[in-house]
Amino acid sequence: MGLACTTRGATEENLNESKFRCPHQGMRKGLRIEAFNYRFEGKILSKEQKEQKITRRQVLKYAGAVGVAAAVVGAGVGWIAKPTPAPLPTTTATMTATATTTAVPAEAPVLEIYHWWTSGGEAAAINALVKVFNQKYPDIAVLQTPVAGGAGYVMKAAMKSLVLAGEAPDAFQMHAGYEGKPYFDAGYLDPITDLWTQQGLAAVMPSVVQDMVKFGGNYYAVPVNIHRPNVVWYNKTVLDANGIDPATLTSWDAFFAACDKLVAAGKAHPVSIGDSGAWTDEHVLEQMIAGEGIDFYENWVNGKVTSATDPKLVHALETFKKYLGYINPDHSTLTWDQATARVITGDAAFNVMGDWANGEFLVAKKVYGKDYGTLATPGTAGMYGLVIDCFQHPKGVKHPQNSRKWLGVVGSKEGQDAFNPLKGSISARTDADMTKYGPYQAAAIADFKAAKYMYPSVTHGSGAPESFATKATDIVSAFVANKDVSAAATALVNATTAAAADYTTVWKLH
Ligand code: GAL
Repeated sequence: MGLACTTRGATEENLNESKFRCPHQGMRKGLRIEAFNYRFEGKILSKEQKEQKITRRQVLKYAGAVGVAAAVVGAGVGWIAKPTPAPLPTTTATMTATATTTAVPAEAPVLEIYHWWTSGGEAAAINALVKVFNQKYPDIAVLQTPVAGGAGYVMKAAMKSLVLAGEAPDAFQMHAGYEGKPYFDAGYLDPITDLWTQQGLAAVMPSVVQDMVKFGGNYYAVPVNIHRPNVVWYNKTVLDANGIDPATLTSWDAFFAACDKLVAAGKAHPVSIGDSGAWTDEHVLEQMIAGEGIDFYENWVNGKVTSATDPKLVHALETFKKYLGYINPDHSTLTWDQATARVITGDAAFNVMGDWANGEFLVAKKVYGKDYGTLATPGTAGMYGLVIDCFQHPKGVKHPQNSRKWLGVVGSKEGQDAFNPLKGSISARTDADMTKYGPYQAAAIADFKAAKYMYPSVTHGSGAPESFATKATDIVSAFVANKDVSAAATALVNATTAAAADYTTVWKLH
């Protein structure tokens, strides 16, 4: 079957001409990403097609990229090795669209973006967003590079290497909050306050969201969604068959009692988790930390939990230890979405996961309220964790005008209302077209509006400095294996103390 390309004049035969080539061509001779997925109109090109028709492209091999990033971190200088941060702009006047467009020569009709949306629901959502872009800009080919690895645990490391090498794509998936700070600090991002103004975004995005994409008074990213991390997904048929009323599962004790009931009925592993990417462990513990109360969570993200005998920290770890007693033994071989699939099929009753899981239920054609349901993770009713995906305008990209066009679509009502209903998230805009969202998201939107407290996820990049967050993932992963509460508590507070200087945001959560 032939490949369709949205770039005017591009055909399968001439895709290799320089104007259609990947902007990273020529980088790091001899190294190649094997798992590179190029997509045209949603079709993934085969390895052969990539090599023959498009790529002949030499970029960092992911393993190599991760290695480079790790080496830099290991050198104790943080991952940004750039010696002199670029000066911050003192005014946005020089960054207006007019200035940008007149200064930049005509660019190839190409937009290259990176993201980690590779599960069924995730891919459906990003393709819907790209479709909106394609409709608006039919002459621009969108080259998606989806890098498998939930929560970006593979892509984030690879991206650092690309950015450091001066090979940033035109935009890449990034979480709001701390995750963008190292890029900002080292001058790798352009401010986009003028774009926010042109698009009128400040009037339609909640201030809590806006604050998380600002650095030094300017906007540096455009949020595409708001995900909720503190969600238990359950198989309704399984709970009904065992006489478990999900409305009663408001404490972890009640949750564990329900698990005991299921175990007694023959479901040996009622809770599913897939931690082939270790972030999923930290994700669950994080919701237990939130369940200890908003004061404690605020201390947690402000780097103030510094005692290994802090009763709430110890209690959260004890709760997680108990939780681990109910999980599937093959957890380390599964991805997050494979674990969610266990609930979809009824092999498991429960899965704690962010609401990107809803996209998987939708792809599987399951009906909310009939086949599956959700509850806030015990102890977090009235609390809304925040996981916010964004795109930004890296400095010096190959297609700066197309990057801005992409950001315009990312922030638009039309773009968000195409993306989010499939993604499971709610729109980052307050003027979303509610008719486009299904029952789970209608409930989430109501919960968001009524939330007493919101809290930024650490696991998903926003709440704490990276110097802490990456260590925390490893510590929690080790805990899953050794279940040593005291060792984990000690390691976590040591990591907090070691990162003390990096806690530059003071969160006020209540
Ligand atoms: C989160 C991201 C979501 C979803 C999830 C699993 O970090 O914000 O959009 O993709 O990872 O991959």
